[in-house]
Amino acid sequence: MTTATAVAPANIALIKYWGKKDAGLRLSANNSISINLSGISTVTTVEFVDGLKEDQISIDREVVTGAEKKRITAHLDRVRRMAGIHLKAKVESKNNFPKGTGLASSASGFAALTLAASSSAGLLLSEKDLSILARSGSGSACRSIPSGFVEWKAGNSDRSSYAYSLFPADYWDIRDVIAIVGSDVKKVSSTEGHAAVESSPLYKGRIRGIPRKIRRIKETIRNKDFSGFGEICEAEALSMHAVMITSKPALIYWLPTTLRVMHRIIDWRSGGLESYFTIDAGPNVHVLCLAKDALKLGKHLSLIEGVKNVIVNQPANGAALI
Ligand code: DP6
Repeated sequence: MTTATAVAPANIALIKYWGKKDAGLRLSANNSISINLSGISTVTTVEFVDGLKEDQISIDREVVTGAEKKRITAHLDRVRRMAGIHLKAKVESKNNFPKGTGLASSASGFAALTLAASSSAGLLLSEKDLSILARSGSGSACRSIPSGFVEWKAGNSDRSSYAYSLFPADYWDIRDVIAIVGSDVKKVSSTEGHAAVESSPLYKGRIRGIPRKIRRIKETIRNKDFSGFGEICEAEALSMHAVMITSKPALIYWLPTTLRVMHRIIDWRSGGLESYFTIDAGPNVHVLCLAKDALKLGKHLSLIEGVKNVIVNQPANGAALI
């Protein structure tokens, strides 16, 4: 069988996926919206090999074992079933971001794996089919398949839950400047966090408000209304973290530096430097701004006590074979 190599970007969710209606299929409880990121990606090479006894997987040159291996092997099994093959695979995956930044991204990882494994197995899948397959490995990975500004339609079955491109990457020249704050490996994975949502008294109210937010944010992107867009993004991140913080056990992903960055952004905004924060299941802060302000913001952010590094991203294309 042939070797295939794919690259896939990580993505930042603006309207978040937090809570599933079907954990086995990874069906999100709600639609979500994201941007693919130009500065953080995964490159994965897959080859199905004759005579191999088990899948051999490495990430950043380290052999993968245990639960992580099981999850990747289960994904390779889906590809094998679709292609009608039984060969085991060699998988080599590399992230372009340093380990231990809390950026480890299942989204870029499973999107790149999906494209590389399916092509190596001889499958010619459409963008929709790739997105569906990536979703079954990690929900947010379905959004790293299409390009630019992306919506994941939650759907209510395997076939109806996938992501598609709302606008191409070059539609709007905005930036996502990531302030790297964390270094430790997450104590509670997002998969475990999703399972805890029902224990938050705020969860049901959050879900009720999402369709309106989705409608409004699409309008702000279409109209390139940065202030309207940023306000929705910030409020949405706070709404997801309110659910996290009020889950049992409480999931507090923020560190002191996370809060310091959030307050600075609000201060700078009142001083005329317009940016908005959003935060996923970790302590790093994604700062959304217009292209013209990215350099200045990056410099300001890197001077905040506790910020270890800054990565500037623009909207990027989705997964591709290389
Ligand atoms: C907070 O996609 O990592 O980043 O489907 O269990 O792999 P699994 O979860 P995952 O959850 C991402 C959660 C989030 C929000 C988002 O990306 O929408």
